[in-house]
Amino acid sequence: MFNISQRRYLGNKSSILPFIENIIRDEIGDFDSFCDIFSGTGVVGSYFNASHKTIIFNDLLYHNFVSLNAFLNPESFDKDKILEMIDSFNKLSTAEENYFSVNFGNRYFSLNNARKIGAIREKIKRAFLENTINKKEKEILLTSLNYSIDKIANTVGHYDAYIKKDLKEVGFEMKMLNIDRTKNTNNKIYNRDANNLIRDIECDVLYLDPPYNSRQYSDAYHLLENLTLWQKPELKGVAKKFDRTHIKSEYCKTTATKNFEDLIINAKAKYILLSYNNMGNKGNGRSNARISDADIFRILGLRGHVKVFEQEHKEFNTGRRKRDDNKERVFFVEVGE
Ligand SMILES: C[S@@+](CC[C@H](N)C(=O)[O-])C[C@H]1O[C@@H](n2cnc3c(N)ncnc32)[C@H](O)[C@@H]1O
Repeated sequence: MFNISQRRYLGNKSSILPFIENIIRDEIGDFDSFCDIFSGTGVVGSYFNASHKTIIFNDLLYHNFVSLNAFLNPESFDKDKILEMIDSFNKLSTAEENYFSVNFGNRYFSLNNARKIGAIREKIKRAFLENTINKKEKEILLTSLNYSIDKIANTVGHYDAYIKKDLKEVGFEMKMLNIDRTKNTNNKIYNRDANNLIRDIECDVLYLDPPYNSRQYSDAYHLLENLTLWQKPELKGVAKKFDRTHIKSEYCKTTATKNFEDLIINAKAKYILLSYNNMGNKGNGRSNARISDADIFRILGLRGHVKVFEQEHKEFNTGRRKRDDNKERVFFVEVGE
């Protein structure tokens, strides 16, 4: 089975979950509701998931929304039916071309695998349209497909580019997801801009993990967005990307500080935790942090006294050497203190 953390995702916080947990234990203690408003994979909110808690998840990208629903919404599904479908998908082989193979075959995947991925996606679409599967079952199958192709993609871990080389035929295997529905009772999942959603929600603990540099997640994961949405848009450039104007994040632009201030001012939470990398101006242009430390302290300081916690963190940075000074930092504010 696939666990929620078993995918490659830039800036994912899988390896610092105990660090975040310790801060919460020491500074907050028990709480009823937690909001992971820049969820990405959802590993942080999922770590605190429990039947007696309300966990709010949200991400701007649609494939993350689908994955969060698959693992974490309380809806029911027929596990045996999904296992049967996964089994038949894994055995599928086709020589027919489709949207996915024409655009991504011999690039991100071998031609055979790309044909198979496109054919599976078409079958999931048909099964949903014919009411053979419900919404939750569709979300599980799509997420299983996304997790399984991540294991064989001809990339360094994201889809900004593919590696130019002759592709070997490697098989991929879809698997059931490891879902514990008993914990999901009160979860809420959104696909909205965080600055928009913040005006409609309240929580005890607000965890913020926005992108910190100019690298757009919609560029890095366009292929998974495309496969999940399956609207077959026209694609441009060598990397075969669709028009992503509507899913560009303000947190990757020069407007980041203004947006962050708006988010913090409008937050209705008892405690705020912020993960923000410390690359400052030391990395290359694209790595430079969009919000300065001075602005982080000033803005969080509008809501209370700011504390900072630091831990060494081996970041998933597409395989390049780890920077010596790469510390993971969590800023903490008790609102009103
Ligand atoms: C650093 S990643 C979060 C990683 C996540 N904590 C994890 O462990 O997987 C930042 C996420 O914020 C999302 N994002 C960027 N701008 C957003 C916005 N304005 N509203 C909601 N989500 C946004 C991106 O799609 C990305 O998934």
